[in-house]
Amino acid sequence: MYLMITIDNLTKIYSPKERAAVDGLSLEIRDGEIVGFVGLNGAGKSTTIRIAAGVTLPTSGDVLVDGKSITREKTDASRQIGWVPELPNFEMNAKAVPLLRYFAGYYGLTKDQEKEHIDELLKQVGLWEHRNKKLRAYSQGMKKRFSLAESLIGDPNNLMFDETLNGLDPEGVQFVRNLILDQKKKGKAIPPLLTHTERDRSLIRSYSNNPSWKVNQDARQEGTE
Ligand SMILES: Nc1ncnc2c1ncn2[C@@H]1O[C@H](COP(=O)(O)OP(=O)(O)OP(=O)(O)O)[C@@H](O)[C@H]1O
Ligand SMILES: [Mg+2]
Repeated sequence: MYLMITIDNLTKIYSPKERAAVDGLSLEIRDGEIVGFVGLNGAGKSTTIRIAAGVTLPTSGDVLVDGKSITREKTDASRQIGWVPELPNFEMNAKAVPLLRYFAGYYGLTKDQEKEHIDELLKQVGLWEHRNKKLRAYSQGMKKRFSLAESLIGDPNNLMFDETLNGLDPEGVQFVRNLILDQKKKGKAIPPLLTHTERDRSLIRSYSNNPSWKVNQDARQEGTE
């Protein structure tokens, strides 16, 4: 089994006056594992995911994505992470297609490949009819769907969903379920981190052979169930 994501003694201190947001967290996620990351508000879940996604620097420790260090081999590591943020925040005056094209520019696709891929993604997440709207005209759930499409652009091996089911209608939840099965069929890692809430637990449980819960009550305590 290939080790997909290794969180190694990860610590994040935003302010020296406050306690660490993440305090020496270590966690290994293997290929095919679905890990639920649960914890109270403020426990450090999003911070951990943001560090793994390469948008926040750790104070110490590291995250290895498919063996590549997020601090020392950023390009290789970030390429294999698709991140759906807690609160998607895009250039709201942009329209879906040009913005996805812009993001796709990171991955060296030809114009034809790019168009085909983006059209397919928009259909997959159910935004095809809304592709010509500005993002600020999108509803909350539509923004989540757009964010899902964006996370899939580079066809990453690992997906990190930060409370992705929040704001999705039943069809959207079904889409996420199908996405997980689809990833599995492709022989990829199942999105390794789905956070957090009780509601997400049933989803993780229904797809994981060996559900492994990292309960991060105060960013130190860990447990499995
Ligand atoms: N950008 C930031 N600057 C300063 N402090 C921050 C920042 N982001 C998060 N924090 C603090 O870090 C701690 C962990 O926050 P984080 O967002 O990682 O928690 P969480 O587990 O995702 O919570 P929730 O369940 O509410 O989403 C909190 O105390 C929070 O106030
Ligand atoms: Mg959070």
